[in-house]
Amino acid sequence: MNSDYRIEEQDKIEILEEKDVVVCRQACRNWAKRMNFNLIDQTRITTAVSELARNIQEYAGQGEVQIQIVEKDMRRGLRIIFIDHGPGIKNIKLAMSEGWTSHRGMGMGLPGAKRLMDEFALESEAGKGTTVTTCKWLPL
Ligand SMILES: Nc1ncnc2c1ncn2[C@@H]1O[C@H](COP(=O)(O)OP(=O)(O)OP(=O)(O)O)[C@@H](O)[C@H]1O
Ligand SMILES: [Mg+2]
Repeated sequence: MNSDYRIEEQDKIEILEEKDVVVCRQACRNWAKRMNFNLIDQTRITTAVSELARNIQEYAGQGEVQIQIVEKDMRRGLRIIFIDHGPGIKNIKLAMSEGWTSHRGMGMGLPGAKRLMDEFALESEAGKGTTVTTCKWLPL
């Protein structure tokens, strides 16, 4: 399924503690800047990254974020993949609905990130972990 994405460049950031969420957000902002995303898109990307990296930290304790410059069908994009081997999500449909939280959150992280990015795919299995694959394309 990923074979049609050509990866031009990539990096990886480990999320081990709370401060890594900030490190990750900053790193993604720098990549977005370097790719010439406009300020609004930079903010969309960094907001989504904050939420998804924070979910790793909050629910799985640790994980990693892969940052890739990709090309597909003549378009360039920033693909960001959030991977953890934490408890996973039992009911993905519920987790994706606005306002639903298993803890004391606002329940806006996942649905918000989906709205902010162009592509969003959540794969999760209870007891195994969670992978969220997102992508933002540069305008044509
Ligand atoms: N990486 C993850 N591993 C396990 N469960 C997760 C993960 N990410 C999200 N969840 C589950 O999905 C629910 C919804 O996540 P979402 O980020 O939308 O809201 P929240 O984290 O509860 O609140 P906030 O608005 O503060 O982010 C969480 O309450 C949690 O139960
Ligand atoms: Mg959250």
